[in-house]
Amino acid sequence: MSDWFKDSVVYQIYTRSFKDSNRDGIGDFGGVIEKLDYLKDLGVDVLWLSPFCDSPNDDNGYDISDYLTIMPEFGTMDDFDALVRGAHSRGMKIMMDLVMNHTSDEHPWFLESRSSRNNPKRDWYIWAQPSQGPGEGFEEIDFDQAGRGYAGRARGPRLSGVDTGFLPNNWDSYFGGKAWEFDPQTGEYYCHIFSKKQPDLNWANPEVREEMFRIAHWWIDRGVDAFRLDAVHHIGKPEDWPDAPVPKEPWGFCLYKNTPETHAYLQEMNRRVFQPRAVLTVGETGGTTPESARLYVDSDRNELDMIFHFAHVHMENPNDASALTGLMSQWYAALKPGAWDAQFFSNHDLPRQVSSFGDDRWLRGKSAKAIAALLLTSWGTPFMYQGEEIGLPNAYFPDIGDYRDIHALRGYREGLVSGEDPELVMAVFQTRNRDNSRTPMQWSGEANAGFCEADVQPWIPVPQQNRHINVGAELAGRVEYAPGGSIGGAGILSWYRDLIALRKRYSVLRRGAYAPVNPNHSRVICYLRYLEDPAFTEDPARSKELGHSSPVQSEDQPRAGEKTLALVIINWTGTQADYHLSPRLLSQAEYLDTPPEAVKDGSLSGFSLEAGNYAVPGTPGPGEESLGGLCPDESGAIQGGTTGVADFAAALGGDSGEFDSDDDLPETGRPVLGSAPAKKMRLRPWECRVYLG
Ligand code: GLC
Ligand code: CA
Repeated sequence: MSDWFKDSVVYQIYTRSFKDSNRDGIGDFGGVIEKLDYLKDLGVDVLWLSPFCDSPNDDNGYDISDYLTIMPEFGTMDDFDALVRGAHSRGMKIMMDLVMNHTSDEHPWFLESRSSRNNPKRDWYIWAQPSQGPGEGFEEIDFDQAGRGYAGRARGPRLSGVDTGFLPNNWDSYFGGKAWEFDPQTGEYYCHIFSKKQPDLNWANPEVREEMFRIAHWWIDRGVDAFRLDAVHHIGKPEDWPDAPVPKEPWGFCLYKNTPETHAYLQEMNRRVFQPRAVLTVGETGGTTPESARLYVDSDRNELDMIFHFAHVHMENPNDASALTGLMSQWYAALKPGAWDAQFFSNHDLPRQVSSFGDDRWLRGKSAKAIAALLLTSWGTPFMYQGEEIGLPNAYFPDIGDYRDIHALRGYREGLVSGEDPELVMAVFQTRNRDNSRTPMQWSGEANAGFCEADVQPWIPVPQQNRHINVGAELAGRVEYAPGGSIGGAGILSWYRDLIALRKRYSVLRRGAYAPVNPNHSRVICYLRYLEDPAFTEDPARSKELGHSSPVQSEDQPRAGEKTLALVIINWTGTQADYHLSPRLLSQAEYLDTPPEAVKDGSLSGFSLEAGNYAVPGTPGPGEESLGGLCPDESGAIQGGTTGVADFAAALGGDSGEFDSDDDLPETGRPVLGSAPAKKMRLRPWECRVYLG
C-alpha cells in the first residue's frame, strides 16, 4: 500500500472561516482558491476541508442534509471542481471530512424515516420504544434534569396527551443532555449522540453501509484523495441498546465508542473503498488508548491509516514536558511496529494551541514556534489547523452574543443552570469553547482582517484585540508590540515554512525512529530522531544498542550524504531552563559535528538552526529588544546571545558541568564512546533547537 501520507503535512481548512470571496461574510471555496498559492508556499501537501456538503448548519456542516451537493454558502460543484484542480495542479491533495455517523434531521432519509414506523427508511436510523420504567433502585428523574452521567433512565419529556414513558436507556449526548429525542408522530425515540438535529445512522443496516460506500466512491471519482472520518469511532453500537454501567467516565459513553462493531464496519469499508481506491484515511477516535488504537491502525488489520487521539490535548498541565514526552513515547512504542500516528495540537474543536500549550500573552511568538517545532519534528504525520501558522490565540469573546457554536452555548447555559458563579462559568467557557478557533482567518490588518470586505459582517466576529496578528504583518516581518503586551509575533509564518521545508528535505525528520532523551525532565522536551541506516542494520551490536532485538529494517534508506540523526531540544516553558546533556548523549556527537545544512544552504534562508526560535528575519524589532526584560530567568538575570551549533560543538570538548547521571540516558542510547563531559546549556523561554548530523 502506498504510504505517501507518511511524508505529508496536512493543513485543515475550516472553510466557513478561511476567506469570503462573495461578500456574504461566510468563507467559501472561491476564498480557498484565492489562497492556494499561499498554502503551496507554506509547503503543505494535503488540504483537509471541514464538511462542505449541504447542511442546515446546526453544527457548521457536521449535520449533512445531502451528501452529494455542495453547501450553497461555500459555492457550487463547479467551484469544488475548480478547487480540486487548483490544488492538484499545485501538487496538493484534498482530504474530505466525511460525516458518516449521523446526518441532519433535515436529510430526506430522516424525514422519511420519521414519517412512519413502516417506512422503508425507518431502519436507517436508530429508533427505540419508550421503556416502561427504570426498574428498582432508580430514581425517577425528569428528562430535562437528567444531566450527563445520570445512570438511570430518565422520564421522557412531558407532552400533553402522549405517553413518553422512560428513555430507552441512560446514554448521554456529547452535546449535553441525553442521547434520545422523543418523536411524537410515531411515539418512539431516536438516538442522537450529538445534537438532536444530528440523528445517528444505523450502521447495522447493510443498506446504510452500501449507501455510505457509494458516497465515498462518488467523491473519490470527483477528485478527493483522502478522508477524515468524523466521529467514526461511534458508528458501531450494540444492537440491544444496553444501559451504560454507572459511568466510569463522566458521560458514560463507553458503550457506543470504539466497539467491535465499528471495527467490523471499517474493515468492510476498507475492503470496499479505501484499498481499491488507495485513499488516505484518518479517523477521529476519541477515547482510544495506545493499545486500542492499534485495532484501527495496525496495517495488518486493514482499517485506517491513522487516527486522532486526544490524551495530550486534555493534559492537566500542558506545560509538563515529562507528561507530554511520556504520552508521545507511549504512543510511539505502541504504534511504531506496523502502524503510524497523526500529530496535532489544535483543530476546529479545540482552543488555539498557542493558548492551550503556549503563552498567548507575553511570549506568543516564542511559544507558537516551540509548538510548531514539536509538531513538525515529531514522529507521525503533522496536522496543522488554519491560523496556527501566524500564532492566532483564542478569541476569548467576553460577550456571549458573539458566540455561535451550539455545543459551546449549550455548555454555557448548563453551567448557569447548575448554579455556579456566572463569572466562573464565563471564565471557564471563554477558554474552552470551540469558537475560540473558529473565528476568521486573519489575512491583513484591515477591518475584518481581510477575511471579508470591510463593509460586510462576518458570520462570527474577528476578535478585535488580536487584529495586529495577521498574515500581512508576518510577511512584512513586523515584530508586534501590542497594547496587550504580547511580543515577538513576527517570524512564526516563516518558521513554519522553514520547518516544513526542513522536514521535507530530511527523511530523518519524517521517517526516522524516535527516542526520548531525559524523559523525566519536567521542563525540557528532548528527543532523537534517527534513520536506521544500513550500517546499523548490518551491525547487530548497534541494532541492540538502539534497543532492537533483531537487526532493524530501515523504512527509508538514507541517501548518500543524508543526515541520519536529529536532536531536538525544546524548552517547553516560559522561563529559562538549564539543561544538561549526559556524556552518553554527547557521544552521539560524531553525528552532530557537521554544521547544519541550513547554514550553508540558501534554500533554507531565514531558518536559523543555531539561533533557535529567536531568529527574526531582518533587523530585530522593539519586541526582540525588550524580550529579555520581560522574561528574566529565575534569578532575575537577563541572558543575552544565542547558543548555536558552534557553541554546542565547543561544549563537547569544554569543561565539565553537572549532569543528572543515568536519568539523562536516552532510552536507546549507545554506550559511552568517549569521555566527553556533560555540558550545561541555558535555554531561553520556549527556545528550541534542532541539530542534524
Ligand atoms: C466531530 C467534529 C465536531 C462535530 C462532531 C459531530 O467531533 O470534529 O466538530 O461537532 O464530530 O459531527
Ligand atoms: Ca462567501
